[in-house]
Amino acid sequence: MATLFVDLFGKTLRNPVMNASGTLGYGREIDPLWSVDTLGAYVTKGLSLKPHHGNPPPRVWEEGRGMLNSIGLQNVGLKRFFAEHFPLFRKRNTPIVVNFFGFTDEEYIECAASIEPDPLIVALEINLSCPNVTKGGICMGKEARGVFSIIKRVKETTPIPVIAKLTPEVADIVEIAQAAVSAGADGITLINTMPGAAIDLGTGRMAFRGGLSGPALKPIALKAVADVSRAVPVPVIGAGGIMDHEDAIRFLMAGARAIQVGTATFIDPFAIPKILAGLAAFMDEHGLSRLSALAGATHD
Ligand SMILES: Cc1cc2nc3c(=O)[nH]c(=O)nc-3n(C[C@H](O)[C@H](O)[C@H](O)COP(=O)(O)O)c2cc1C
Repeated sequence: MATLFVDLFGKTLRNPVMNASGTLGYGREIDPLWSVDTLGAYVTKGLSLKPHHGNPPPRVWEEGRGMLNSIGLQNVGLKRFFAEHFPLFRKRNTPIVVNFFGFTDEEYIECAASIEPDPLIVALEINLSCPNVTKGGICMGKEARGVFSIIKRVKETTPIPVIAKLTPEVADIVEIAQAAVSAGADGITLINTMPGAAIDLGTGRMAFRGGLSGPALKPIALKAVADVSRAVPVPVIGAGGIMDHEDAIRFLMAGARAIQVGTATFIDPFAIPKILAGLAAFMDEHGLSRLSALAGATHD
């Protein structure tokens, strides 16, 4: 039988499948359907120093082969997450990746500094798609220089491995990833949502603006994973439109060490356990004993 174990930042995860940040609540919502220890690691919803209300509804919009969301980073704050939600992961012995954000450089630093290392914390995943209020609302992750500076400061603040989660809304994602790695990032997650909009045909009104996720994002994410994993020496985690185990395998072939599943769970809450079963069956059918046999198997 194939093993799905994967090494990431000095820890061994049961498998390479995580949820994408913000798409599995705080874990306790899904736990009655399938135990959170099904995951290789649970990725938290984006957490900030203080609780954040997020945007008024509507917050999601179905759009053809994708979904738009405008949650506005609602969360209970780091303190409440660790007091109220982390105990579930402790009980289930499930590793976690802490996704976090700030609206200023200082907030990012304070967030990272406030997270105590714990054997269950695999890494901090820094969401660089967030508007910086001190820089005219420009998204943090759009400029290599800004990415370098924030990652460097975060790395100086915490002994926990740091993953840079990048926005695809840039001219050259390889350049941004290289800046993150030269600042000390231990891994790269690719990709966050792409800004989009929907128009109501009847009224002509701009009905929704938000981040596009789901199948429409997959080719963009796959290319980013293939290009970046060849250009940087750290593990890449793939996200963007992974709907089934075949998509997961494509991302692993493109060079991802692990993958994250987001929008698929909105369509089928059992998408993640199904992807895991499909992945194991694929490995067995093809006589592959370890995931490393798929690693970067794609070629031109
Ligand atoms: C409802 C929703 C909430 C999200 N919240 C966050 C978040 O808090 N932090 C973050 O880094 N990414 C967030 N994302 C982006 C996802 O983690 C992921 O990068 C993106 O959706 C692409 O994966 P998918 O196509 O499998 O959904 C969110 C996505 C969705 C759909």
